[in-house]
Amino acid sequence: MDVIAARLARRPKDAVIGLNLGANKDSDDRPGDFARVLTACGAHLDFATVNVSSPNTEKLRDLQGKAALGALLGRVLEARDALERRVPVFLKIAPDLTDAELADIAEVALAAGIDAIIATNTTLDRAGLHGAHAAETGGLSGAPLFEKSTRVLARLGALTEGRVPLIGVGGIGSAAQAYAKICAGASAVQLYTALIYDGLSLAGEIAGGLDRLLARDGFATLAEAVGSKREDWT
Ligand SMILES: Cc1cc2nc3c(=O)[nH]c(=O)nc-3n(C[C@H](O)[C@H](O)[C@H](O)COP(=O)(O)O)c2cc1C
Repeated sequence: MDVIAARLARRPKDAVIGLNLGANKDSDDRPGDFARVLTACGAHLDFATVNVSSPNTEKLRDLQGKAALGALLGRVLEARDALERRVPVFLKIAPDLTDAELADIAEVALAAGIDAIIATNTTLDRAGLHGAHAAETGGLSGAPLFEKSTRVLARLGALTEGRVPLIGVGGIGSAAQAYAKICAGASAVQLYTALIYDGLSLAGEIAGGLDRLLARDGFATLAEAVGSKREDWT
């Protein structure tokens, strides 16, 4: 944390920086860990993400439960409010949640006043996969995650009805897929795995492709398209 805070203090001033907050695996005060990272690094951030959805940290996803999440968000937002500048705080959720769990998360996130919800992190699901690596443990990202994460995004849109912006992530590798996330309810998208295959130029390609898709469907702005096809995914 201290090393990263020092590095962030030297960041290029025109860079947009979002920091993922997490807890140590062996911590006996996980909410305290999240809050401490934000306190240490908050001066250098454009946004922070509360990550309760990585399957690679033991018991981290337990923090998605209603009571635990409410307490966690309370601690993090208290640390945020003590910063000298207002840093938006996002919540990032897992795709492997039941409808009831998702409804609880939406309720708690709205009550806490979180600035956006990011759907989703990687999955533990291996349905439909075959081949030598299908049984490996850990979070699965990329193409096999696209549909599942988009369904969670759309359900979250139905639960929150525009009261909090949603950020779509999971399996995006093309403008058409970014557009599908937007039409399912995302106001912004993120991608990770596809960058490994296609490199950083993919971001520009997707932005250009999105312009063409919006024009094709008669949308003057991206905001107009947000959630326009949510029913296809719920
Ligand atoms: C190797 C790897 C490491 C990741 N580390 C994190 C992490 O530290 N925090 C987090 O919130 N998500 C993490 N993710 C999840 C990604 O940010 C993203 O939500 C997920 O991979 C789905 O998007 P994608 O299909 O475009 O990769 C990681 C994913 C991968 C593949």
